Amino acid sequence: MSSKTVAFLAVQVVLIYCAYRAYYKDDTGQSLTPEEEIISIWEERIKLPTRQFKKVAVGLNANVDLIVKGSELLRMLNISPGHKLDHHELNSLHELQEVFAFFLAKGSGAERNFANGEDFGKMVDAAERLSRADWFIGGNAALMAQKIITTFPDTQVQLVGPVGPRLKSLLDQNMQVPQSSRIDKDEVHMILEFERGEKWGDHQAPVATRFITSHDLSNARMDKLETLFASLGSFQPDLVILSGLHIMEGQSEDFLKKRLEDLAGNLRLLPSTVPVHLELASMTKPWFMKLIMEIVLPTVSSLGLNEQELAFASHATDGPHNTMYKEIKGQPEIHKVSDIMTWLLKTYSYGSKNYPNSKLTRVHFHSLTYHITGTLNVAWRNERAAVAAGTRIAAKQACDMKIFDPTKVDIKSPEQFKLFTGDKLRSFNQSEPVLSWKTGDFKFCFSPVLVCKHPLKTVGLGDAISATGLLFSEYDAKYADQS
Ligand SMILES: *[C@@H]1O[C@H](CO)[C@@H](O)[C@H](O)[C@H]1NC(C)=O
Repeated sequence: MSSKTVAFLAVQVVLIYCAYRAYYKDDTGQSLTPEEEIISIWEERIKLPTRQFKKVAVGLNANVDLIVKGSELLRMLNISPGHKLDHHELNSLHELQEVFAFFLAKGSGAERNFANGEDFGKMVDAAERLSRADWFIGGNAALMAQKIITTFPDTQVQLVGPVGPRLKSLLDQNMQVPQSSRIDKDEVHMILEFERGEKWGDHQAPVATRFITSHDLSNARMDKLETLFASLGSFQPDLVILSGLHIMEGQSEDFLKKRLEDLAGNLRLLPSTVPVHLELASMTKPWFMKLIMEIVLPTVSSLGLNEQELAFASHATDGPHNTMYKEIKGQPEIHKVSDIMTWLLKTYSYGSKNYPNSKLTRVHFHSLTYHITGTLNVAWRNERAAVAAGTRIAAKQACDMKIFDPTKVDIKSPEQFKLFTGDKLRSFNQSEPVLSWKTGDFKFCFSPVLVCKHPLKTVGLGDAISATGLLFSEYDAKYADQS
């Protein structure tokens, strides 16, 4: 071949390639759905930070979830359908029937403590004899630990909580669980499912949902709290993640106050360079929420919560929009959420009037349709990527998909919104899904969720979101040294 021919062929190849690129770009540019466009923007912009967390310690609630068909379990226990009645907590298998019938007929999910340990044991034994009984990792701490170790293989994870033999076998084999964290008998949370239209005696379920019950003393007393802090010295984590405070809610006020002070006391002894994240979960007693905010919040660096918990926090401590908790229907308005986040940071964070030595510098809010992070700007980096990574994992996990399928999700973000009270009215723009703004020293980042149309996995969604957001965040230890 002459050199001229080679040159000619090369030009041909380049021209064909350019034509292909132009066509391809034009074609996809016109046919991208808003969901596809958001996914491609996320793929392009979600980058891990320069300095990633490498050793993460997670505690404190851990258990196994045992999922069964409720009616099959009751039959196995020789319990026949009877009348329905709600109880604050369960004291017998007879009351189990009444409460199960009550929530089946009502068609709403519920969780009740089973106070009678002997009858609860009978229930677990019967469940193990069922043909279909599925065991899963349960407890926010165990779920977060598992999420991190399976998503970030370069990160070492240590879980401390009541870990029984069954839970140990379900956890990733690289998960570090100190011997002192192990218990002989798993804490089991029974999840009794019922299907839509399912009949139980005279009662019929209008929708599919689940009734949850447990007799979980280890988690309710936070038994492994001291074990967790004793293990940190040898593990030397660069990030600590905590959850499970909500499980103590049934205890007396004195006990709760003492346990929260034990926790805060231990947290104050940690090096200031190690950030601590606290993930909240559903609570019903305002005074308990208030105790957590006043005792624990100033000793953690980062807080994760959803719309119920954010509204409840404001309600419990007289913050802004504090009637939202009672009025909340569907998704809360973006500007109201960011107002409460700003108030939370201003009131409880580092340098605040009442808590000048507070460690708090970050809040991660997650709801069904959007997430927002708010940070003291100098203390955290990469938060645009972090908030987007949290929204991306929400869709992937809810739909249980490894590769993003844009046809399985919908944008549910409001078309018009304000980012904070006093902001101009904005229109949602799918070409610019991740937004950020500053209020004083705080930086906020917003990302819409692509909501899964037919969710398959909703257990532990908030845990997966917060854990992922943290692993995409970078904490500035230099900042902590100065404070
Ligand atoms: C949406 O965002 C893109 C990218 O920033 C910008 O080019 C476009 O003008 C925006 N559209 C509207 C209607 O603001």
